[in-house]
Amino acid sequence: MTHLITTTSELLKIRNELKLERSDSVGFVPTMGNLHAGHISLVEESLRKNSETFVSIFVNPKQFAPHEDFNKYPRTLESDLALINRLNSKKPVYVYAPSNPLEVFPENYFTQIYVREITQKLCGKTRPTHFEGVTTVVYRLFNLIKPHQSYFGLKDYQQYLVIKKMVADLGLDIKVHGMPIVRESSGLALSSRNTFLSADGKVKALTLSKNIQKLIEILKNRSLSEAQSLAKSIVAEDKTWDYLEILEANELQIPNSSTKKFVVAGAYFVENTRLIDNQLITVE
Ligand code: PAF
Repeated sequence: MTHLITTTSELLKIRNELKLERSDSVGFVPTMGNLHAGHISLVEESLRKNSETFVSIFVNPKQFAPHEDFNKYPRTLESDLALINRLNSKKPVYVYAPSNPLEVFPENYFTQIYVREITQKLCGKTRPTHFEGVTTVVYRLFNLIKPHQSYFGLKDYQQYLVIKKMVADLGLDIKVHGMPIVRESSGLALSSRNTFLSADGKVKALTLSKNIQKLIEILKNRSLSEAQSLAKSIVAEDKTWDYLEILEANELQIPNSSTKKFVVAGAYFVENTRLIDNQLITVE
């Protein structure tokens, strides 16, 4: 049962009128729409673990720089709602899809939420204002929806860490769950931006997951230094890489000989579309 909400006043009314027992909880899945199986796995998890589930569908202008793809970002509300409906959930799924960005950020909205340090690495190097836009909207949505549990895809691993840091630093009583990346059988990580790719582009895009996998194998079977020098040479040989890096997985620090948990993360341009992917590995 899907319940579409297009205004913030209706959202607040519905949320404030929910009659929650002590054992009840509210789950929240923030999205920018153009939903795919990755998003749906988050909604399913929220439905499994909570009595109430909210999904937001909002292409957040604050997380796009002026030269980025805000205007062409796919907006597919009808098919998004159809996908959620197909879950046939007996529990309601409240979908907050504001009809106008002013519903989320009214005129004279001046407050930004900024997490330092971790936002400046990986994607933050080429998208220096991106995470500030993400944390600002997620904090705002958290405040409107007041969830107990929230669900994020691990494809955006840095985003997941940034949100966790914001929640910890601000002492928000919200659990942040990172859910596994969903992939096509080819290995391509599902992404709303894959819709921009041609058939050839989708094949080219596998360069990302294949090289990440190669580095994971080297970390597992050989050494960190070998993996690091291969990552450097891969990026040096192909200018369509934005980055391909091996970092310590909890705070995105440069790894050293005592690091056990790594993230191998990459960003790669295909047909002017910037794709990201990563894998985590623990080496004993
Ligand atoms: O991951 C996304 O789709 C977005 O960054 C999010 C978390 C919905 C914030 O706009």
